Amino acid sequence: MSTPAELRAALVDRLTADGALTDQAWRAAAAAVPRETFVPEYFLPVPASAPTAYVPVLCDNPGRLEGVYRDQTLVTQLDGHLSPSDVQGPVAGAPSSSSTLPSLVLGMWQQLDVEAGHRVLEIGTGTGYSTVLGAHRLGEQNVVSVEVDPEIGVRAAEAVKAAGYSPTLVIGDGLAGYADGGPYDRLIATCSVRHLPLPWLHQVRPGGRILATFTGWSFAFGLALLTVTGPGCASGRFLPGYVNFMVARPHDRPPRQPVTLLSGDERPSEIDPAILGDWTGKWVAQLAAPSAEIIGAGDQQILVDFATGSHARTTPNPDGGWTVTQRGPLRLWDQAEAAIRAWQQHGAPHQEGFGITVDGDGQRVWIGTEEGPTWNLPI
Ligand SMILES: C[S@@+](CC[C@H](N)C(=O)[O-])C[C@H]1O[C@@H](n2cnc3c(N)ncnc32)[C@H](O)[C@@H]1O
Repeated sequence: MSTPAELRAALVDRLTADGALTDQAWRAAAAAVPRETFVPEYFLPVPASAPTAYVPVLCDNPGRLEGVYRDQTLVTQLDGHLSPSDVQGPVAGAPSSSSTLPSLVLGMWQQLDVEAGHRVLEIGTGTGYSTVLGAHRLGEQNVVSVEVDPEIGVRAAEAVKAAGYSPTLVIGDGLAGYADGGPYDRLIATCSVRHLPLPWLHQVRPGGRILATFTGWSFAFGLALLTVTGPGCASGRFLPGYVNFMVARPHDRPPRQPVTLLSGDERPSEIDPAILGDWTGKWVAQLAAPSAEIIGAGDQQILVDFATGSHARTTPNPDGGWTVTQRGPLRLWDQAEAAIRAWQQHGAPHQEGFGITVDGDGQRVWIGTEEGPTWNLPI
């Protein structure tokens, strides 16, 4: 049986060979930080279960260590309160805290482009694993991490201490940042946001960078790297890849209500509704209809805005094409369709073709340049 150190070294070798770990200093951090200390127990998804069910893996279960050193996300809490040791067998639930897969954690730390002496604010401590990677690389005095869930925060603090590190750990709403530890050179968020919280833009110094995943109530995601251009202002680009993170709790959508689809105005759809199943297609529709939830599949899409009772649904016609039915004060399909068409006219780029600007006029996501098709983020 392999020791944790051997499993860790093998993971570092695999991440290096895959090209996920390119930086020598981050390789040293990954080789030094014992992930098993931060995830004594975790949930694993049951393959092909729908809705996804999770089985608990506890500290004395065979295979736990091997699981810790696989490049996988380890869910540590479901529905904001369930821990692995709370359950006996498979359980359904929504992940609310986790240790993100090492290739993504290390990839994001590398994308953040830190230098010795930089001060970093991390939002979403989770297990504390990513925090301690940062503390190892930058020095524990330079890392501050904020976790909203007190139980998760206390567990992370115990693990961080057991691993022998002492970065500043704060329990609170990370959307408010942590002004007492600033100004920061870098901010990294491991929960996603609907818009950039303004305190971050005042706590990171001009010229500093923010790496955060943007999302919305349809759970489409885009990872962006921004440079702070002045107090309250920033701009940047979205990055290649497919990154998603659980949404920052205050930005989460309201509890879903039962959907009743009523009749409404009908017209032909000018786009194939299945495009909303595409990673970036859904992102574009979410930008255009940020108050809606997209809950359909294939070419039978449903968009619902629960606040106003507006909805839109598409159905395939027997002889080809699609009909859209819209009802309520918001014409959700009109919004999504116009955005998808604009995106397609600009070559339907992946998110790395998008950028973001934040200034006194609001927060805007655009394609290509600031003169390209633009959508306002809900703030
Ligand atoms: C994906 S997990 C963090 C992963 C962590 N960095 C790691 O690798 O162990 C996201 C965390 O963000 C936390 N979170 C959600 N909303 C937050 C908020 N408003 N402020 C701070 N933390 C938040 C969740 O409780 C959860 O622990």
